[in-house]
Amino acid sequence: MRFAVFGNPIAQSRSPLIQTAFAAQFDLPDFDYGRILAPLDGFAAALREFIAQSGVGCNITMPFKEDAFRACTRVTERAAAAGVVNTIRVETDGTLLGDNTDGAGLVADLLRHTALAGKRILLLGAGGAARGVLLPLAAEQPAGIVIANRTAAKAEALAQEFSGQIATPLAGAGFDAIAGEFDVVINATAAGFDAAALPLPARVFAPGCVAYEMVYGKGETAFLAQARAAGAKTCLDGLGMLVCQGAESFRLWTGLTPDVEPVLARMRAELTA
Ligand code: ATR
Repeated sequence: MRFAVFGNPIAQSRSPLIQTAFAAQFDLPDFDYGRILAPLDGFAAALREFIAQSGVGCNITMPFKEDAFRACTRVTERAAAAGVVNTIRVETDGTLLGDNTDGAGLVADLLRHTALAGKRILLLGAGGAARGVLLPLAAEQPAGIVIANRTAAKAEALAQEFSGQIATPLAGAGFDAIAGEFDVVINATAAGFDAAALPLPARVFAPGCVAYEMVYGKGETAFLAQARAAGAKTCLDGLGMLVCQGAESFRLWTGLTPDVEPVLARMRAELTA
């Protein structure tokens, strides 16, 4: 069974390690998962070649998630909502099913630490990363989701777009107009890569709240430091999301549910070594 992750660059991808570790939990001796560096303008051709060489499933990372969406015959509801595809399954008739497991990965990781039902969620950012997690978060029936973004109009537009699709109360705002406090605060902005903290009022972090940074491998980011100083009890980076989205992809391909815990523990150890 041949699988791969496509990206550019791709050498840094930890997906082969994760997927091979999942496969080792089951009796899948011919599970083969590699990296494919596709040319920036050549994703579709690289995908065709992979399938011609008996590829049956793949992950897609930057910058090809939109190309992957376009390459698919059909996509899941959550991939349609996200507008991007990070997992493809090649069906027996040769058609391509596209999925997006990022949001499910975030939710699965959050649920390892906290219930989400009835919680007040603040989602920071209104780009692709935020869009991709909205439906899976809403499916957990939180009390409400506020999307806050540096550019307020984008948060408002995203809230407007999804309001009709979900029962969860949804609102959009600029950082300076966030009302209330939250039990779960998720940073889906690209500011996770920056040193500067986001201009958030400290009160948005309810006492004992969970703060989640989608980025991983950066140590304590400015956002997580800010959250901890404001009283967040649980501060998490995105390593768990990475492993959990991989588990969701693995399930889509094989029908098997891997145990994420030993894989996550190993990756955490490697990251802090
Ligand atoms: P991604 O796919 O990672 O979400 P994106 O679609 O380019 O990338 O979106 C980037 C997000 O990070 C946006 O919400 C952006 O805010 P704007 O809409 O105002 O541009 C946010 N972002 C990027 N850098 C930021 C910073 N330094 N401070 C706050 N928000 C930032």
